[in-house]
Amino acid sequence: MAKGRSKYKRVILKLSGEALMGGQAFGIEPATVDYIASEIKETSRAGAELAVVIGGGNIFRGMEATAMGMERVSADNMGMLATVINALALQNALERKGLATRVQSAIEMKELAEPYIRRKAVRHLEKGRIVIFAAGTGNPYFTTDTAAALRAMEIGAEVILKATQVDGVYSDDPLKNPRARKFKRISYMDVLKKGLHVMDSTAISLCMDNSLPIVVFNLKGKGNIKSAVMGENIGTYIGAAKAEVRKRA
Ligand code: GTP
Repeated sequence: MAKGRSKYKRVILKLSGEALMGGQAFGIEPATVDYIASEIKETSRAGAELAVVIGGGNIFRGMEATAMGMERVSADNMGMLATVINALALQNALERKGLATRVQSAIEMKELAEPYIRRKAVRHLEKGRIVIFAAGTGNPYFTTDTAAALRAMEIGAEVILKATQVDGVYSDDPLKNPRARKFKRISYMDVLKKGLHVMDSTAISLCMDNSLPIVVFNLKGKGNIKSAVMGENIGTYIGAAKAEVRKRA
């Protein structure tokens, strides 16, 4: 149902848990969730089918807990539960704006959300509902970026739109190094080789192996999610290397 001016028929929007914190150091800031919901509502007018994968770092950071001695599996399980809290907060904000949504959780908790069923998710999208995927992949040792890549492949999304706190992928941390430069376009392999912290290597590799492009952009700019969906020149496009594109064509 690609109506409107969307470049893509179906997309995955990846939001970090930290995106929900707003000005706070922890948790969920209602005004910020409301802002994101408005941006998603505006984006839905472009006509793409929209699924969202959300992180949980605003509530619990598994890696940090592991560094402090917690067993990794327990820490990751707690992190996955945090994503469910965020998914329910976002669902509520979207529904208050009149959007139809469904939350599907990779870890069964039927009282709160539907279980993840791929065919049902696709059906919801076809009906114009926004599907929020919660609980990551349902497995420890995998990030929610990897969950976004996996779900994108499963539901046939054409792109991952990764909303971040910066304008795109930089050669170095732009907050620390004023000479860091932004890439307009970069290959998966260069992201891996240069060790750029865009997504973890599992997520990037999964996208690379399946030729799934990623657009990295700043969530804070008003209208940015919609611009990304419409294929405007925004942020950084991560795809195959130019030579590879030519070879495949
Ligand atoms: P279609 O009938 O295909 O249009 O989809 P639907 O989601 O409207 O139908 P369904 O009868 O599956 O769901 C009705 C409502 O119940 C929706 O809000 C679903 O999100 C919700 N729902 C469905 N299954 C579950 C579940 O296992 N757990 C929870 N908590 N809610 C569910």
